[in-house]
Amino acid sequence: MAITHSEVCRLPLQELFVFSNLFSPICFNARNEDRVTWSTSFYYSHGKKLTHPLIINAVFYEGCDASILISSKPGSKMLAEKDAEDNRDLRGEGFETIRKAKALVESRCPGVVSCADILAIAARDYVHLAGGPYYQVKKGRWDGRRSMASSVASNIPRANSTVDQLLKLFSSKGLTLEDLVVLSGAHTMGFAHCDNFVSRLYDYHGTKQPDPAIDPRLLKELRMSCPHSGGNTDIVAPFDVTTPFLFDHAYYGNLASKLGLLASDQALFLDPRTKPLVQTLAKDKHNFFQAFAEAMEKMGSIGVKRGRKHGEKRKDCSMHIS
Ligand code: HEM
Repeated sequence: MAITHSEVCRLPLQELFVFSNLFSPICFNARNEDRVTWSTSFYYSHGKKLTHPLIINAVFYEGCDASILISSKPGSKMLAEKDAEDNRDLRGEGFETIRKAKALVESRCPGVVSCADILAIAARDYVHLAGGPYYQVKKGRWDGRRSMASSVASNIPRANSTVDQLLKLFSSKGLTLEDLVVLSGAHTMGFAHCDNFVSRLYDYHGTKQPDPAIDPRLLKELRMSCPHSGGNTDIVAPFDVTTPFLFDHAYYGNLASKLGLLASDQALFLDPRTKPLVQTLAKDKHNFFQAFAEAMEKMGSIGVKRGRKHGEKRKDCSMHIS
């Protein structure tokens, strides 16, 4: 089941295009949104996906202000968020999607739409194009000016985080236990590198035994792709072994069958505080979609910058204006 990163990018995903009038001379917001959608769907249809950190790290560090897109200054010792060790697996395609969308929008409406709004719209489109819910994205964000690699580590959830740690981090961002369980449902799609779960396969918590909460067949499969040490660091495994390319509610049912990929995923079923909601969401796709759309809106409003005093509207999302 596991494959390499570059193979993921060549998989024949559905051709899904959202048609829009790309050449409209008028700066309507809806048209600008169409341009982002078009760009996201173009990249999506070519099998290239927005990455997890672009969706979540972007929000968890400085807020929904596109600071994740800023590049480090050449020769500077102060690395930007994007170049933090924890972000080494960011996929270039995610940045490229945002760059193209921004270029399309800028070509018609220079200086109007922030990179932060483009990121939020693209995240929505990514979910929708894979079969997930469509929801309105509130706009009006400005781009943040701060982007520091040194602040990333303490602000992102980790593959081996406990539910207590996740709850603490989420609550520090104003998100609840429900938000944690619902947003984790984004792992209904996408892939993770072996190093994120390899300790579960061979030496769980120093026991020299696998994590007892992994289904034996899944354990066997994952061990074949991810050796204890010395494996290909490019190998990835799907979060959702049942429907890896569909945005659906299978993630939750998988957790009940010990098919969670990360310890942090499986923990949601093991913890009595989060288990009841996992069970509820496993039963009802409509309920999950509605809750997910609401939680994404909430996440998308964390740390939003407004106005020139607090932010900027970058022409090139990777470079500060000043
Ligand atoms: C709850 C805490 C979370 C933890 C511990 C976590 C952790 C991770 C890890 C370790 C990866 C694999 C990265 C790699 O190997 O390249 C990943 C991928 C992913 N995550 Fe999360 N994540 C969390 C929450 C979220 C949320 C809230 C979202 C979105 C709303 C999300 C969406 C994704 C997606 C779509 C991928 C797949 C990316 C790809 O295929 O390139 N995650 N996550």
